Amino acid sequence: MDKFVVKGGRRLEGEVTISGAKNAAVAILPAVILSDEPCVVENVPYISDVRICIHILEEMGAQVEKIGKDAYRIDPTTISKYCVPYEYARKMRASYYFLGALLGKFNKARVSMPGGCPLGDRPIDQHLKAFTALGAEYTLSQGMVDLVADKLTGNQIFFDVVTVGATMNAMLAAVKAEGLTIIENAAKEPHIVDLANFLNSMGANIMGAGTDVIKIRGVEHLHGTTYAVIPDQIEAGTFMVAVAATKGDVLIKNVIPKHLESITKKLEKIGVNIEQFDDSIRVWVDGPLVKTNVKTAPHPGFPTDMQSQIATLLCLAQGTSIITENIWEQRFRYVDELRRMGADITVNGKVALIEGTGKLMGAPVKACDLRAGAALIIAGLAASGVTEIEDIYHIERGYDCMEGKLRALGADIEKVSVPDKTEETKSDSTKAAV
Ligand code: EPU
Repeated sequence: MDKFVVKGGRRLEGEVTISGAKNAAVAILPAVILSDEPCVVENVPYISDVRICIHILEEMGAQVEKIGKDAYRIDPTTISKYCVPYEYARKMRASYYFLGALLGKFNKARVSMPGGCPLGDRPIDQHLKAFTALGAEYTLSQGMVDLVADKLTGNQIFFDVVTVGATMNAMLAAVKAEGLTIIENAAKEPHIVDLANFLNSMGANIMGAGTDVIKIRGVEHLHGTTYAVIPDQIEAGTFMVAVAATKGDVLIKNVIPKHLESITKKLEKIGVNIEQFDDSIRVWVDGPLVKTNVKTAPHPGFPTDMQSQIATLLCLAQGTSIITENIWEQRFRYVDELRRMGADITVNGKVALIEGTGKLMGAPVKACDLRAGAALIIAGLAASGVTEIEDIYHIERGYDCMEGKLRALGADIEKVSVPDKTEETKSDSTKAAV
């Protein structure tokens, strides 16, 4: 079992380069299945979710070749299996994108249901609604979702909630369906636009991605492409907060500043200085940090995936801040860990009240999900003393060499291997992905 040992109190300074976006890559890699020719996907982050995606593609029969530090050549024409077993789905929730991609290409798919999740209930009813609207039938049995269609036909799909996953899955399934598909109340996250751009670069006809109405005119064939995944908005936001928490001064490179707007605006209210360039931003602090209120919302609102990080920063600010979590019912599970570090946070339902004390103290803590883990690293960087963070496999699912990047900025953080007797007896389900 690995853990991070962080000795707090060092300012972050220098330059850091952001990797490709996890939540785009985990949809784009399955989307390669839809192509009739090999594709090259670049700027792919080196994270465990991506490695699982690659394993799934290889298991299905695709030929995958790593052709550079962050690029893969994938030939999907040799795929002969249409199934994602539980052993993969339990490790990577986003394996549900294989449903849309396999259905879109082969008119059939068999993917294990993702199972329990640290963020709370994660239904897939809207995914199934989209697939059935396009003409597929589904059965749920033995923890598997089976989809089958004689043929897929374009249709109108109105989502009851704004959902990233179902919007992406509807796009994957509709891209080769006959006729016009109109997705209404679509999610607008940058990774939705990235998936649409990737599919369009293979010859798809998708319009309106990034707005709440997406129109897809089905095409018969998709050809090979070379495509670079967008930079990770949340990794960039996490570094922005880490710099602010240590009162540092860092140039964050390979970002799309427009994607960071909601984060930038909140940080500026807290007292953080931000200067935007074409594809980089400078973040620095030269004054006090002050309270603010944050409500999470679908894009372009403040992302839920940045909620725990900004909450940590608000512990270090002066005054009382209120955070309202509107997406995931169990996204305050990190609060107990932050309290161990001296944070004064009260949670009532979807609202957290943070009394900023201006300081945190090092402590042994556990990451309960990916972003909670990032928040604990930030807390450790700003805290006095030593913070030891366990269960870092959560963090490694979604951050590409976080400790290496932080070390290059002057942080004192080490990954330490600790023999753990309880590990062998730990139920596999405790390692379920988010
Ligand atoms: N929802 C439904 N029915 C559905 C699907 C979703 O009711 O069929 C609800 C959910 O319960 C939730 C809301 O809709 O309340 C939004 O869920 P969404 O489908 O947008 O989430 P997701 O696609 O499962 C992605 C990211 C999450 C991120 C959310 C929200 C990926 C792989 N995951 O999840 O990322 O929090 O969108 O932006 O893209 C993370 O990176 O740490 C992470 C958890």
